Amino acid sequence: MAEQSVKRVRTRHFQKAKDDGVKITGLTSYDQLTAAIFDAAGIDFLLVGDSAGNNVFGYDTTLPVTLDELIPLTRAVAGAVKRALVVADMPFGSYETSADEALHTAFRFMKETGAHAVKLEGGVRSAEQIRRIVSAGIPLMAHIGFTPQSEHGLGGHVIQGRGAQLTQLLADAHAVEDAGAFAVVLEMVPAEAAKQVTAALTIPTISVGAGPHTDGQLLVWTDWAGLTTGRIPKFVKQYADLKGVLTDAVTAFRADVESGAYPGPEHSYAD
Ligand code: KIV
Repeated sequence: MAEQSVKRVRTRHFQKAKDDGVKITGLTSYDQLTAAIFDAAGIDFLLVGDSAGNNVFGYDTTLPVTLDELIPLTRAVAGAVKRALVVADMPFGSYETSADEALHTAFRFMKETGAHAVKLEGGVRSAEQIRRIVSAGIPLMAHIGFTPQSEHGLGGHVIQGRGAQLTQLLADAHAVEDAGAFAVVLEMVPAEAAKQVTAALTIPTISVGAGPHTDGQLLVWTDWAGLTTGRIPKFVKQYADLKGVLTDAVTAFRADVESGAYPGPEHSYAD
C-alpha cells in the first residue's frame, strides 16, 4: 500500500490500493513482539491466522484450534499495532452451522480483542455468513481457493482452480464480493486463474501462493522467516534463517553457562 502517511489502515485503503494499482502487503502474526516489528516496517495488515494451530499450539492441522485459543493471541497483536489493520481468523467449527453462529463468533473477536476485521473460509457456501457479519458493520476478508480447514475434504494440500475448476473459483469470488467482503484471499491457485479472478472483481485479491497478478501478497511469517520446521510450500520465498540464528544463539548460551563465561560481572548486580 506504500502510503506510510496513512495513520491507520482502513478497508477503504485496500480498495484505493487496488484502484491505484498499488500492492497490499500482509503477514500472519500471533504475538505482540512480531506484530510491533511488522507494523513498524509498514506491513498493511496482520492476520492472526488459525495457522496459530500449527505455529503456536503444535497441532498437525488448523482444525483443532479454538476461538478461545485465538482470542488472547489476537488481543496481543491488536494491542501492539499502530497502523496495520488486524484481521482475526475465524476457526473451524465457529461459523459453519449458521449465519447467527458466524455473527456470534465475529462479535466475540470484535468485543474481546480489538481486531479490526474478521476472516473466514469458503465462497458460495459461506456467502450467507459473510452477508450477516458485514451487515452488522464488521469488515470481512474472504478466503477461497485452497481452504486449509477443508483439507480432508479437498484431499490434502491440492492446488485449486485448475482447468474446469476455474468456473467454481470465479463463482466463489463473485459470491464473496456480492456478500460484502472487502478483500479476498486466494490460496494455492494457479497464477493465470488468480489473474482472471483479480480482473473480474472490484475488491482486492490477496495471494497466498496465487502468483504475482493479485492486488496483494500474504505469507505465514514463520515460513518466510525460516522458523517453520517441516515442509515449506513452493510459493514461499525465505527471507531469513531464524532457526539457524536461534540455534547458534542457544548453543552459545549453553556453552557460556557451562563454561562459566556467563554471567560476567557486567551482568551481575553489585552489593
Ligand atoms: O491461518 C492462516 O495463516 C491463513 C493464511 C494461510 C491465509 O489463513
